[in-house]
Amino acid sequence: MATLISPSILAAQLAYLGAAAKQIEEAHADYVHIDVMDGHFVPALTFGEQITAAIHQETKLPLDIHLMVAKPEIEVPKYFALNPAIITFHYEATNAPIRLLEEIRSHKIKAGISINPRTPVSALKDLVRYFDVVLLMTVEPGFYGQKFIEASWERLSALEHLKAAAKSAGHTFQIEIDGGVSDTNAAKLVAEGADILVSGSYLFKGNMKERVQSLKGNK
Ligand code: DX5
Ligand code: ZN
Repeated sequence: MATLISPSILAAQLAYLGAAAKQIEEAHADYVHIDVMDGHFVPALTFGEQITAAIHQETKLPLDIHLMVAKPEIEVPKYFALNPAIITFHYEATNAPIRLLEEIRSHKIKAGISINPRTPVSALKDLVRYFDVVLLMTVEPGFYGQKFIEASWERLSALEHLKAAAKSAGHTFQIEIDGGVSDTNAAKLVAEGADILVSGSYLFKGNMKERVQSLKGNK
């Protein structure tokens, strides 16, 4: 399957979110990645459901919502009405991930779980039947424009093994990579199993249309 590209709108000029949403659509990306940060789970405070709804009105592209929030049980349901393609919350932020994953799925939305660079991939082992997407953080969450953490390669390989094991038990999920993705590592990420690439600064700092194609491996 072709690699899916999810530009992180956090790296846009934030006073012009509508224009950025249109730019992402015209670049033939697959999703708009929305980084919701609450000032608690991470120090920064970015968008909430109201600004996300306003972005949604400006584009036909499906939303890929990444919640970096301390209380996902409270925040996740606020996004159901927007009918996004994916809602992802952090493993580290909840003691009841199964209930929350099931709640997301019950709205016919892909249920995503994210792990920070310090959380072992093995933490997801008992959850494989409940999620549709794993968002592997390849930088510490909180800011765009950081450098890809090299130890992520081993984590991606562990996740590929988890995916293979899940498959033999009849379950599957997509692997989404978030943080420091550019033309320097995209091809290798895809070769090692990535299905969805999030990218912020790389896409917004150049010709986005060309760069989306280069992340897809079409150049
Ligand atoms: C980091 C966010 C990422 C970030 C990606 O906390 O989750 O989505 O905006 O931006 P780049 O591609 O610049 O690392
Ligand atoms: Zn993100």
